[in-house]
Amino acid sequence: MDFLINGKRRLSGSIEVSTAKNALLPILAACLLVEGTICLHKVTYFDDINNMLQILQNLGVKVCKYEQMLILDCQNINNYIIPLNLASKLRASIFCLGPLLGRLKKARVAYPGGCQIGTRPINIHLDGLKKLGINVVDRHGYINAFANNFRANKICLPFPSVGATENLIMASVLQKGKVTLQGVAKEPEIVDLCNFLNSVGAKITGAGSDEIIIEGVSKLSSGEYTPIPDRIITGTYLLLPLICGGKIEVCNAKPEHISPILYMLKNNSCNVRVKSDKIIVSCENRPKNFGKIETLPYPHFPTDLQQPLCAVATIAKGTTIITENLFESRFNHVPELIKMGAKIDVLDGSVVVHGVPDLYGAEVEAPDLRGGAALIMAGLGANGYTTVKNIDVVDRGYFKLEQTLNLIGADITRIN
Ligand code: EPZ
Repeated sequence: MDFLINGKRRLSGSIEVSTAKNALLPILAACLLVEGTICLHKVTYFDDINNMLQILQNLGVKVCKYEQMLILDCQNINNYIIPLNLASKLRASIFCLGPLLGRLKKARVAYPGGCQIGTRPINIHLDGLKKLGINVVDRHGYINAFANNFRANKICLPFPSVGATENLIMASVLQKGKVTLQGVAKEPEIVDLCNFLNSVGAKITGAGSDEIIIEGVSKLSSGEYTPIPDRIITGTYLLLPLICGGKIEVCNAKPEHISPILYMLKNNSCNVRVKSDKIIVSCENRPKNFGKIETLPYPHFPTDLQQPLCAVATIAKGTTIITENLFESRFNHVPELIKMGAKIDVLDGSVVVHGVPDLYGAEVEAPDLRGGAALIMAGLGANGYTTVKNIDVVDRGYFKLEQTLNLIGADITRIN
């Protein structure tokens, strides 16, 4: 699947942000802990979500979609195995490890897939589970784990891994005793997962801080929930006026989740207005450079917006230096941007982006989800036509992106 983009068109209009992929994914995994029915609202069926639903169905969950309302009957979880052909489709398959151990006390999960942005090990997940008395055997590309001797404990994570924090929370919810997790991730998606779990009977405190405490309970019950909006999609949309010119209103946003981006926009050559869950950005001039940007765990600048920001930096006035501290290979979009006339030097872990007045269209390939978004943004701002190949990786985290952007003035055609 490719996008053919006719660039250099101003974008103006209003866009509603969908629910967050990275909140929905752990919440779907957490449904495995519930002996009942869960109704989720405002669900967006990104490819990653559909792949996660396939995994849940394979474990015994009955899935009913009523447009954006999703009903999951989790009464009978009759399988504890996630085979490679399902697990390898996304990173979030590994999030099922914890809930399967909580519900069935055993799990056999193949190694996860996910964007090729680094080695993405799961050692923090597995070491944490072992410290909870869980027997983990990592062999032949499968994780086999047994929780018969679960032992409540205090664990300090060596790095605030989002997925490991989520897995350890879910592994602890239905166990006996109090588990204390320190040095945890503080992302809004962690808070949303804990809010969901508490809404169906869990006892979790401290989400969003350095320390999360889980008091084990015997059972979780049916309920319903609406996940938070996607802060990464929000940030991606807010950057569009800087590369295309125009005025975009993003609705259903949570400004408090994207403070670093809002700060940058307010200090650039654009006009920013925030009105409760609406954020309006307008820009008619060439953006200024962003100086030095470092990606760090929340609440600092998010790694998932590093690549979209890089696309804007290519046409900014002056030089922007972007340092990626979370993933060791998250610059695969850079050679593709250079094909479009960008001037970028790649150093060890950083890129130096020398702004040029204009990009020109080219045939480029999306290397991963957010790198693909960056190339689409560059194509929207470039002179002439750009073909972005491998759009399948973008469909994992942006839903019908071309339809959304064409509604505000873009000219994108999806071609097979
Ligand atoms: C989640 O991935 C997100 N994915 C990623 O979003 C996001 O970039 C990342 O968190 C950081 O915010 C989902 O939520 C599905 P990590 P995750 O564990 O959990 C290292 C997107 O574009 N690490 O916080 O995999 C790891 O290699 C995706 O939507 C270990 O060394 O991220 C990385 O360098 C991309 N051992 C760093 O920690 C481990 O056991 C951060 O990883 C786990 C992680």
